[in-house]
Amino acid sequence: MNKESRELATYKLFKTSKKFSLKWSSYFQVYEKIFSKYRKKKIKFVEIGVANGGSLLMWKKFFGKNAEIIGIDLNPDTKKMEKYGFKIYIGSQIDPVFWKDFFKKEGKIDLILDDGGHKNLQQISTVHYCLPHIKDGGKIIIEDTVTNYLKKEFNNPSKYSFINFCNLIIEMIHRRSGLLHKKLNIYSRKIYSINFFESIVVFSINSKKCFKSKEIYSKAKKEWEVDYRHHDYFTETKKLINKKYNFLNKINIIRKLLRKLFYRSALINFYEKQKIKKLFKYIKN
Ligand SMILES: C[S@@+](CC[C@H](N)C(=O)[O-])C[C@H]1O[C@@H](n2cnc3c(N)ncnc32)[C@H](O)[C@@H]1O
Repeated sequence: MNKESRELATYKLFKTSKKFSLKWSSYFQVYEKIFSKYRKKKIKFVEIGVANGGSLLMWKKFFGKNAEIIGIDLNPDTKKMEKYGFKIYIGSQIDPVFWKDFFKKEGKIDLILDDGGHKNLQQISTVHYCLPHIKDGGKIIIEDTVTNYLKKEFNNPSKYSFINFCNLIIEMIHRRSGLLHKKLNIYSRKIYSINFFESIVVFSINSKKCFKSKEIYSKAKKEWEVDYRHHDYFTETKKLINKKYNFLNKINIIRKLLRKLFYRSALINFYEKQKIKKLFKYIKN
């Protein structure tokens, strides 16, 4: 743990919480980064996973008395934390009926932190069922996402892991680009961005920022530069042809053929794929 993390408010409040809690040392710098702006604000903060209540007490002190802190747990014993002034709901994060009832009672919320069961369906359900009920400017935070890489208990890595679900959402976010003509859904319309930290994934919600983007231009006179995107290969050969065998370029069909071969050929695609494959392999090791 670095020295700066030991100075952070969340770390100090965690260490001095009256009830037991277990966290990973990298989490506090993330908490400060994503939660600081909500301190002393009138917000509704929900934590899935109460256990002994250590983190609820930490959040209460961190956000201040204007914040309402709510806990959710499947274990009925966690109701005992109500004596500290928290509202505790008993239910499962994978249960749509539970969520329907919860949001009917609580209305929209600002922040939800998932420190519940950490299994794929549990993490995915939190995002799916809570997304419609998060206020603009709010966040969904999924903690302990390292479970997406653990075999024991979590059956990961898997095609249907929470992290792969995030991959799907990345596509939903890109659907807002004017270059794509796919339908926008609630994920495209509400999730402005996703931040990935070690073992924590943060979804920033803001429907006002989620508009379909259009190509726009600066006021200066329109002019285009040649884009050299496809000019990476065969530079010397191309030069030679242009210099010595330029007559080939004058024959339409040959010019087209040369362009296809030197600029966007299957050969180039294959070469690039191999290079990327190598890079991926290198990164994975
Ligand atoms: C890691 S502990 C929470 C620790 C607590 N946040 C802290 O830091 O002090 C996980 C809790 O999630 C609860 N849990 C597990 N699966 C759940 C589910 N499907 N729905 C709601 N809570 C669940 C467990 O009962 C347990 O109390």
